[in-house]
Amino acid sequence: MIIDKILLTENEINSICTSLGEKITSDYQGSDLVLVGLLKGCNPFISDLAKKIDLPLEIEYMVASSYKGNTFSSGNVEIRLDLSKSIENRDVLIVEDIVDTGKTLDVVKKILINRNPKSLKIVTLLDKVEGRLIPCECDYVGRKIEKAFVVGYGLDYNDKYRNLPYVAIVKI
Ligand code: PRP
Repeated sequence: MIIDKILLTENEINSICTSLGEKITSDYQGSDLVLVGLLKGCNPFISDLAKKIDLPLEIEYMVASSYKGNTFSSGNVEIRLDLSKSIENRDVLIVEDIVDTGKTLDVVKKILINRNPKSLKIVTLLDKVEGRLIPCECDYVGRKIEKAFVVGYGLDYNDKYRNLPYVAIVKI
């Protein structure tokens, strides 16, 4: 794997988290906000973003995985870990590192909507709009990106490189 270009530096990621956090803080005043992070990729982003949201929120996680070590989506999304409590009548904000084909969110959104949240929205660090196979609108987007394979800051290749503090475009 060769790093082609740094897409987001640590400073840029920090600025994105600050501005998304301010917007979410303002939009969710007085709400019963639950962040639902989709592991594993969301891990650094949800931690940094939550610190920039000045509200008494709760953090929950789901494991929804489809890539299975490939650089493309297998299309089969498996829920391997579910929420620990009810989201009924609560304001749910799904936290993603990247939205690509939209298949993961299509499955997760259907599951969560069936549990009758008061609202259900999506925040993603990266939005690969050209990759969509299923329509999926994100409510808060850190950065739109072109079709490229990216690693770092939670994003993996064969489960490695999630620990890079920046996001890089790579050649496999
Ligand atoms: C990645 C990423 C998103 C999903 C986006 O997860 O974290 O959840 O793919 O792709 P899609 O829009 O094409 O569905 P992955 O399944 O690789 O699991 P991970 O979070 O454990 O890396």
